[in-house]
Amino acid sequence: MSILKIARLGHPILYKKTSLVDNIIEPGIKKLIHDMSETMIDYKGIGLAAPQVHISKQIIIFRMFDDQEKESNEIKITALINPRIIKTSEETDDKWEGCLSIPGMLGLVKRYSSISYEGFDMNGNKIQQNANGSHARVVQHECDHLNGIVFTHRLVDKKAYGYEDEIEEYWNKKHE
Ligand code: NI
Repeated sequence: MSILKIARLGHPILYKKTSLVDNIIEPGIKKLIHDMSETMIDYKGIGLAAPQVHISKQIIIFRMFDDQEKESNEIKITALINPRIIKTSEETDDKWEGCLSIPGMLGLVKRYSSISYEGFDMNGNKIQQNANGSHARVVQHECDHLNGIVFTHRLVDKKAYGYEDEIEEYWNKKHE
């Protein structure tokens, strides 16, 4: 496995629409997912999309911070190929997001509170899942990357964006 270089804000690959993976079970896709997982862990991220490692294909990975992960002390990563999202309610919430392509920065972003998503795992099995809270948020954030959208395009307020420590000092406290 290897750690891949991450494209940062300004790199054109981040604004390009990705293409579908034709052959999901191709060994190259499996290797890419393993490398993306290693990269995400190394950078301490919770999600990563293929365009962020300069591959314009519909592949995302994300971590699940659930009780099972806490109990087993093992990092659980879900890989999703050719994902589709369906919102399951009109309800939204605003939360601070970061992105490995925009290191050190946070932005306040509106997302659907609950969604359902589908796609394929790296063995070609179909995945169908309902998600809410941070699980729903990370999937929406990563799927945005597949459409050339980064979170700075979705800020609820142009001012609700900045360096982590400044945001923590001036925003989170204000919003408590
Ligand atoms: Ni991101």
